[in-house]
Amino acid sequence: MKYDEKAFSAIQTDTDAGKENEHMCGIVGYIGEKQAAPILLDGLSRLEYRGYDSAGLAVRDGDRDIEVVKAKGRLRKLAEKTDDGNAMIGCCGIGHTRWATHGEPSEINAHPHSSEKLVTDAPGVAGVHNGIIENYQELKDKLLRKGYTFYSQTDTEVAVKLVDYYYHKYQVGPIDALAKTMVRVRGSYALAVMFRDYPGEIWVARKDSPMIIGVREGESYVASDVPAILNYVRNVYYIGNMEMARLTAGDVHFYNIDGDEIFKEPVEITWDAQAAEKGGYEHFMMKEIHEQPKAVADTIRSVVKDAEGVPRIDLSEVGFTDEVIRDISQICIVACGSAWHVGMASQYVFEDLARIPVRVELASEFRYRKPLLDPNGLVVVISQSGETADSLAALREAKKNGIKTLAIVNVVGSSIAREADYVFYTLAGPEIAVATTKAYSTQLIASYLLAMHFGYVRGTLEDAPYVKMLEELQTIPDKISQILTEKERLQWFASKFANAHDIFFIGRGLDYAVSLEGSLKMKEISYIHSEAYAAGELKHGTISLIEDHILVIGVLTQDDLYEKTVSNMVECKARGAYLMGLTSYGHYVIEDTADFTVYIPKTDPHFAASLAVIPLQLLGYYTSLARGLDVDKPRNLAKSVTVE
Ligand code: M6R
Repeated sequence: MKYDEKAFSAIQTDTDAGKENEHMCGIVGYIGEKQAAPILLDGLSRLEYRGYDSAGLAVRDGDRDIEVVKAKGRLRKLAEKTDDGNAMIGCCGIGHTRWATHGEPSEINAHPHSSEKLVTDAPGVAGVHNGIIENYQELKDKLLRKGYTFYSQTDTEVAVKLVDYYYHKYQVGPIDALAKTMVRVRGSYALAVMFRDYPGEIWVARKDSPMIIGVREGESYVASDVPAILNYVRNVYYIGNMEMARLTAGDVHFYNIDGDEIFKEPVEITWDAQAAEKGGYEHFMMKEIHEQPKAVADTIRSVVKDAEGVPRIDLSEVGFTDEVIRDISQICIVACGSAWHVGMASQYVFEDLARIPVRVELASEFRYRKPLLDPNGLVVVISQSGETADSLAALREAKKNGIKTLAIVNVVGSSIAREADYVFYTLAGPEIAVATTKAYSTQLIASYLLAMHFGYVRGTLEDAPYVKMLEELQTIPDKISQILTEKERLQWFASKFANAHDIFFIGRGLDYAVSLEGSLKMKEISYIHSEAYAAGELKHGTISLIEDHILVIGVLTQDDLYEKTVSNMVECKARGAYLMGLTSYGHYVIEDTADFTVYIPKTDPHFAASLAVIPLQLLGYYTSLARGLDVDKPRNLAKSVTVE
């Protein structure tokens, strides 16, 4: 069977369902006649683009003990520690790059993790893992009662020790020990382990987290992602959900959860390595646009817990107590670029749901403005990278004034995350494209969750509407996926306007906030001048710029403001503008006014920006594509602005 791009995308989508944070980490394993460590390092380097904060290797020479080496920071440090892998002797090994989600980035938390050193000083079981073990605390407690001790904060150490526990307790083989572990563990995982008693073998298990196995004469490979092994092997097997495999040099056997052997056909990968890194997409931006349903779902799941069938927000990991929330007198949101646009949207949602006065400031202005802040206020800094110089300086300014600070950050262990009093981590995973998409979407979700929780605790949002809103929020990932299925219409529309000189985005309320983001997406990657205006402001100056054939995009998701924005669009049309309307299904009357209409699914109006932004991201992307520009690395821009 040949493997084409379309088929790959389909499989990717399928295997993406329900998986957790594994896309932030990388796994590589090798068994053959060559020295394993240099191959593992090379494979891991092909996954570097995903982002990571630490890495490690476990290698075995024949039936000698398993040797583990780990390093915090760049892969280069691990390479230095191991003399580019040459110092680790052995032809069988596993490697991992970790992107911390729980447990700080550190050498001790880096994978591989090892089972209890019960018998000798060397690990009985050593393993690497992508994903999240949701019930790891409960399993850890059980293992502590059984006499195990733990050295790291990770769920992976728990998983490895659970395998070790079943292996010894029932005196079974690796497949039975893995199967018993899989039955007990809740969550997602791609797990690769080596057993001291089984030299020259790697055992793997998978649920909801990608993992592939490549085999050629005398050699076997395992990896979380195709690019890691593409230079070595082209024939790969896809291990299914709740399946296990045993790898030996040049051979692999697959098993189902009952331990019965199952048979699979290999698939030949015909891609070049770079294409595979993008998961079949032409650009990281498009890949990241498609990762939004999962990123949003992960972020919701990180704080929404099921309490007897009813969803509830639990911000204990963020660090907020109800008392702190009740005492907050005002909120000041500080950020840059798209993160500031999230702040603009949050302002509407926070003030409406929690009835707390909110102001939104550009970090570059805030830091030099000597702002007046109430001692009981809260400064919220929003940042994907957690390293933006102005946002970091604003955070420090707030702290200097003794004001409580909350960071909404994507990168674990970043400066802003480390220095803020409270941290809400978005689970977008590494974002590579300069134009943010999935980080923006998860920041919006974080701000809705905070606003709802604050409203609930402060008594401005009652129980019934709170639960109803949470249930609706959980439908957002599917609604984003639904919008993405209609992207071709936007590609067609973008090609029509690819030579435009100016584009205007207008909206009111939350629609103005999302217009700001739509306009930035357009200008930063297509280099077309564009502006976002609060629709009511047009008459105060900007309407003089409207002339024949100019594109005006009206965003109309807020029912109470719909008629008002339609009127503003009509005024533009009267001056020759070409109108695109972006509204929710049901508002079909917009077609009487707009020349081209894009519909999004209906949702609670507070959450509409999460849906409306998707067509606008696609529009920016396709316009850049039609103009033949570098979508992922637009001129003059950097992903992280760490200098003023
Ligand atoms: O890492 P940050 O979220 O702090 O970055 C802030 C802005 O630089 C960022 O959102 C920028 O505007 C985006 N590239 C826009 O797509």
